[in-house]
Amino acid sequence: MVVVAILAAGRGTRMKSHLPKVLHSLGGRSLVERVLDSVEPLSPSRRMVIVGYQAQQVKAAMQYPNLEFVEQTQQLGTGHAIQQLLPHLEDYTGDLLVLNGDIPLLRTQTLQQLLQTHQENQNAATILTSHLTEPKGYGRVFCNSEDIVQQIVEEKDCTAVQKQNRQINAGVYCFNWQKLAQILPHLQANNAQKEYYLTDAVTQVGKVMAVDVEDYQEILGINDRLQLAAADEILQKRVKEKWMMAGVTLIDPNSITIDDTVELQPDVIIEPQTHLRGNTTIQTGSRIGPGSLIENSQLGENVTVQYSVVTDSLVQTGSKIGPYAHLRGHAVVGANCRVGNFVELKNTQLGDRTNAAHLSYLGDTTTGNKVNIGAGTITANYDGVKKHPTHIGDRTKTGSNSVLVAPVTLGDDVYVAAGSTVTEDVPHDSLVIARSRQVIKQNWQNKKLDNKSTDEH
Ligand code: UD1
Ligand code: CA
Repeated sequence: MVVVAILAAGRGTRMKSHLPKVLHSLGGRSLVERVLDSVEPLSPSRRMVIVGYQAQQVKAAMQYPNLEFVEQTQQLGTGHAIQQLLPHLEDYTGDLLVLNGDIPLLRTQTLQQLLQTHQENQNAATILTSHLTEPKGYGRVFCNSEDIVQQIVEEKDCTAVQKQNRQINAGVYCFNWQKLAQILPHLQANNAQKEYYLTDAVTQVGKVMAVDVEDYQEILGINDRLQLAAADEILQKRVKEKWMMAGVTLIDPNSITIDDTVELQPDVIIEPQTHLRGNTTIQTGSRIGPGSLIENSQLGENVTVQYSVVTDSLVQTGSKIGPYAHLRGHAVVGANCRVGNFVELKNTQLGDRTNAAHLSYLGDTTTGNKVNIGAGTITANYDGVKKHPTHIGDRTKTGSNSVLVAPVTLGDDVYVAAGSTVTEDVPHDSLVIARSRQVIKQNWQNKKLDNKSTDEH
């Protein structure tokens, strides 16, 4: 049985940010969410998050069922943070897995290894360490030849010689809770930072072993924007390798970013300068990019998107989006449609084989199948107070530069004359002309000149 505690109360001063450090985003998820995700498969009996700086904001950002929040009102160090658990775990006799909230790239497998070593050896504590070529900023771990931890010294408290040690503390610990609980009340803050260090408790609980992680990337702690960027690079590499091995073509992968929440099918092609974010899925045969942003959207098979932005939207099989389209606010594009050349769709549903191919805005609109939206057609959906709907029936064609003033319904097989401003519903099979008739005044320029010369006499 294991209880998990995640340390997320610090401000993260080195980020130079108003946002609490653990809420900074990496590939579409916050640092602390990533830490939590890494422990979920262990099925902990309780998950406790220690919050303090901007506690409300941190709590609100973490929507997991049965998560427990413990407040650390003053942030007096990592040991002080764990002291806050004492009243909550009074009768608990199992192990406590503690993770810093700023270690976003940990693999569950590594945590399993930590727990296994801890249990098999009946340690008082077991910690993750790694050997870094650049250990700067981390606490240094001193072990004897049997991997038994003797001492952990924070960098700020290290002597010049101690700094040479490249074995660092990852900030991930498994404790025999009862043994730790006895030590916690006696921690002292006599160190360079005047903080209560959890690392001091580690070396006082009894036998402590180190599990050394080979892939140092896993245990990167994020303290500043440089480390955030470094972690992002590692994550991107992981994600892109996974999709390429699964049959996705990435053209110029370095110019592409893909959140690890995105799902792609084999034979999807992603072109340069394309960014796939959030809860996005793309089905086989689709070709996305160059220069596109797809966020929280579902794209069907054989869809193409060029130089376009698609957010919170759905595009069905075979449709062509772009160049230069903007789909947002739950736009739904049916199968085999064309939407592009400066066309914006907002909360609009297009039927199958419908085209909006040039210079249009369609908002709060539904269309039937085989509709043709003429160049420059605009739905005037907003009266300054409320949004209103437009309905367009099957096979209807709107002429160039027509304005459909909502609420308005055009039936099936309607033709809208170019330049019309349609304010009233139009029945099936009709032609609507809603513009003033063209007037021609012949020979007008000469007459004007004649009048002028008469005046001068
Ligand atoms: C800590 C370790 C260091 C280790 C490194 C690994 C200590 C004393 N040092 O240093 O040995 O190499 O992590 O990344 O533990 N936090 C609280 N309350 C507090 C202070 C911090 O909840 O009062 C949280 C922070 O939000 C953060 C985590 O604890 O998620 C670690 O704090 P941080 O200040 O980043 O510790 P480091 O200096 O990196
Ligand atoms: Ca840290």
